[in-house]
Amino acid sequence: MTPKAPASSNGNPSDPCVIVIFGASGDLTARKLIPALYEQDRQQRLAPGTSIVGVARTEMSDDTFREKMHASAKEHAAAFDQAGWDRFANRLFYHAADAAAAESMEGLSAKIAELGGNAGILRQGGMPNILFYLSVSPDLYEPIIENIGAGGLVSEGHRWCSLNAEATPWQRIIVEKPFGNDLASAVSLNRALGRVFEEEETYRIDHYLGKELVQNIAVMRFANTIFEPIWNRDVVEHVQVTAAETVGVGSRAANFYDRAGALRDMVQSHLLQVMCMVAMEPPSVFDADAIMREKIKLLGSCVVASDAEAPSACVMGRYGRGKGPQDRAYIEEDGVDPKRNTDTYAAVRLEIDNWRWSGVPFYLRSGKKLAVKQTEIVVQFRRPPVQIFKMFDGSLADRPANRLIINIAPREGISLRLEGKVPGMGMKLDYADLQLDYLDRFGGEQVEAYGPLIVDAIRGDRTLYKHKEEVELGWKICEPFIKNPLIRSSIHTYEPGSWGPDAAERLFGGVGRWHSPPPGFVRKTVG
Ligand SMILES: NC(=O)c1ccc[n+]([C@@H]2O[C@H](COP(=O)([O-])OP(=O)(O)OC[C@H]3O[C@@H](n4cnc5c(N)ncnc54)[C@H](OP(=O)(O)O)[C@@H]3O)[C@@H](O)[C@H]2O)c1
Repeated sequence: MTPKAPASSNGNPSDPCVIVIFGASGDLTARKLIPALYEQDRQQRLAPGTSIVGVARTEMSDDTFREKMHASAKEHAAAFDQAGWDRFANRLFYHAADAAAAESMEGLSAKIAELGGNAGILRQGGMPNILFYLSVSPDLYEPIIENIGAGGLVSEGHRWCSLNAEATPWQRIIVEKPFGNDLASAVSLNRALGRVFEEEETYRIDHYLGKELVQNIAVMRFANTIFEPIWNRDVVEHVQVTAAETVGVGSRAANFYDRAGALRDMVQSHLLQVMCMVAMEPPSVFDADAIMREKIKLLGSCVVASDAEAPSACVMGRYGRGKGPQDRAYIEEDGVDPKRNTDTYAAVRLEIDNWRWSGVPFYLRSGKKLAVKQTEIVVQFRRPPVQIFKMFDGSLADRPANRLIINIAPREGISLRLEGKVPGMGMKLDYADLQLDYLDRFGGEQVEAYGPLIVDAIRGDRTLYKHKEEVELGWKICEPFIKNPLIRSSIHTYEPGSWGPDAAERLFGGVGRWHSPPPGFVRKTVG
């Protein structure tokens, strides 16, 4: 008998399944996926009978795999307890195979059936539900997807026309970013996926969308009435989205980063998604289809820069050498080809050509070795149309306008800057911030974004995943910058610990408009 599944937080059951992780001996599996799944199991969000089988070419026993994962869960999980791990470890298995070789699929299929049978979760056709996770290098995505299809592991099409869909197993796939390296490769990957999996069973993961506050943007905008009337071109002057890191690229340069860069790695993927949550129209309901439709509509309204326009709307940089002897410039990192002019910093100005946002610039920037680690959105409001207080003091004419800061990391919260009168004689104005810190106010613990996202996929909930059209539109918007030879060849070198190239200020047509706290600033609370 199939074990009974626990209800998830929104009441949907988490089906028992076999989770197949391709790339099980790799970095992402050890640092993120297994610790995240362990956390979910601790919170009883994995159904009884669910097993996880890691697949990679390296020969390893189940026990060796468990030992390795034990060490990394201890280091990377939010909270660790040995008894919880011992229970979780019983779900973990390893299967050595070359997933790029078609003949490997027979053995894998047998392994999945065996695990499903042992756990008592087989469905019609003698197979359990299967969640594939592609955590391998992107050049292996298409061959592995094709092998899964050719190996007969996907029967999802039969499920739709089955008389008893509930008894028929589902097969889903989670694909890690990058979803292609440009528009053409993204289209090719989407087609490869489409030949084997239904779009509804394809989960393109963006762990940014798993972050609490990105979801909270929707709650803030659509569960309160006060924001909607001011959330438009009449009141908003511009919007900034920043994802800044203080660390450099280090050993990831050779394998991955030098061929990607900040614009591909961060702006094209995560920051466009954050922008969608800020700028999309209210969906009719908070479900996957409604939200995806709004995001696609929004991205479709983004102006695609022409080759001539792109250089004035994008600045790229790479960090120079720091003061310490180990503080290498990006071009000195192992495996970097300086001639590629890879960007460790990118800032772009985008326009959204719709009724709500026409004329309101959206500035997106991301970089390594910057002054402060922070991910935030700044909604800058317009100044009042008339400065009636300037009669008391000429400088009052230049008072900063209101702004709303939405902090995504490291502290989740919002802060609204308001003008106030300083108590006492005379008319002196100063600003003050109204602050809401989510953890202080609501308590709870910060969870690794991957865990809830994987459980969503098991529950068939794609709300926080990307549709193929979002991916392709993202490339359409970013390609004019990524592929523009003028932007690349004029890449700026910036000082580590700074806020990137000074030239980024010119995107505003002035100086000092980016919200850039001083170096060393530590965010203890929002603001
Ligand atoms: N690491 C991160 O923080 C991170 C963040 C976001 C996205 N990603 C993406 O996630 C994916 C994995 O990244 P990663 O950093 O974990 O890479 P990684 O450390 O290089 O791991 C790659 C894994 O793939 C396995 N593999 C290679 N060829 C294989 C084959 N033919 N059949 C089966 N397994 C094979 C390798 O093991 P064997 O050599 O034993 O086969 C290894 O386990 C990449 O697409 C990356 O872009 C990673």
